[in-house]
Order: sequence, then structure tokens, then C-alpha cells
Amino acid sequence: MSWRCVPLSSAHDRKTFACGVAELDEYFRNRAGQDQKRGFASVYVAESETGKKDAVCGYYTLSAAGVLLENLPEALKAKMPRYPSVPAVRLGKLAVSLDCRGQGLGEYLLIDAIRRSLSAAVGWTLFVVDAKDESARCFFLHFGFTPLPKEERTLYLRRKDIEKL
Ligand SMILES: CC(C)(COP(=O)(O)OP(=O)(O)OC[C@H]1O[C@@H](n2cnc3c(N)ncnc32)[C@H](O)[C@@H]1OP(=O)(O)O)[C@@H](O)C(=O)NCCC(=O)NCCS
Repeated sequence: MSWRCVPLSSAHDRKTFACGVAELDEYFRNRAGQDQKRGFASVYVAESETGKKDAVCGYYTLSAAGVLLENLPEALKAKMPRYPSVPAVRLGKLAVSLDCRGQGLGEYLLIDAIRRSLSAAVGWTLFVVDAKDESARCFFLHFGFTPLPKEERTLYLRRKDIEKL
């Protein structure tokens, strides 16, 4: 299967997307467009290169964020300047449609999100994700993310480590 990742537009069919997590389906159907228009999130969708053009195989959202210095692990905190908040990019949502699960699309979307973040003009030092449940948390652990000590459902990768890859 091959996909292309593009910004969400009015050409995409939002009504039929189903990833199996009601909250993520509801968000995509009813709120993603508004969040994008208001600048709360950039929303990107995966289209199948061979299937219907308006069909959405998966999506993710990116927003500017900050992580409180006091919430970082001690070893990492020691390496940071003494600003109260560390600049970050947040992958707020990531979902793959049930029809496309297990074909590498989750990984493709995650890499696309990281690539776009690296090429953004804005400075950031942590790429953070919000895992909705234990399964999502395990997905991010699989890719080397580290949980924040005080917020187990928020995990991060350091920009420095991503750039080494
Ligand atoms: C989590 C999710 C995005 C994974 O998407 P996917 O397309 O099925 O995953 P992929 O096929 O890209 O899997 C890539 C790798 O991650 C592993 N993986 C997939 N889901 C995993 C999970 N829940 N826990 C641990 N590893 C997982 C796969 O085994 C694969 O490993 P490999 O490269 O060693 O073979 C998808 O299951 C989903 O949309 N779930 C519902 C929403 C959700 O939980 N979103 C997470 C953020 S809120």
C-alpha cells in the first residue's frame, strides 16, 4: 500500500472515517476542520495513492506546545537552560482507519509528522505525544519515546536524538 500525506481540506470525506476509538473519530468528523481554521492545530491526512481521492486512511494533528521544565526527568532537566517551559511540538492526535491497520501507516504518519516538524521555521526541542490509552502508549514506546515521569501518558523524543537518526 502507498499513501501520500497532505493538509486536511474541504475535499476530504470526514464523515466516514473510523479508527475504532470514538473520541478520535468524533474529533476528526466534527472538530478537526475548526481547529485547523482557528490555528489550534495543523491537521494532515493520508490519502491512498490508488483508492478514492477523498477517502482518508489516517490523520494526525500538530500544534506548538511547551513542557514545564519541572516535569522533565532530572537528567534531562540538568541539560536545559533555566526557562520555566521547554519549547515543543505536540502530536495531539494520530489515528489510522480500521481498514488500513497493521500495514505501516501509523509509522508512516509518525515519520511524516516528525519530518514536517523538523522543517518548520519555529524552534522546538521536544517532540511530544499524548497517548490516549495503554495500547497507544505501547505504540510510542515501540518507537523509542520516553514517558514524562509525572505524566505517564505524555511521551517525548528529543530533537537532538531525532536529528542523529
Ligand atoms: C496506534 C495506531 C496509530 C497504529 O497504526 P498502524 O498503522 O496499525 O501501525 P503500523 O502498522 O504502522 O505499525 C508500525 C509498528 O508499530 C507496531 N505497533 C502497532 N500498534 C502497536 C501498539 N498498539 N503497541 C505496540 N506496537 C504497535 C507494529 O507491530 C509495527 O511494528 P514493526 O515495525 O516492528 O513491525 C492505530 O492502531 C490506531 O489508529 N489506533 C487507534 C488510535 C490510537 O490509539 N492512536 C494513538 C495516538 S492517540
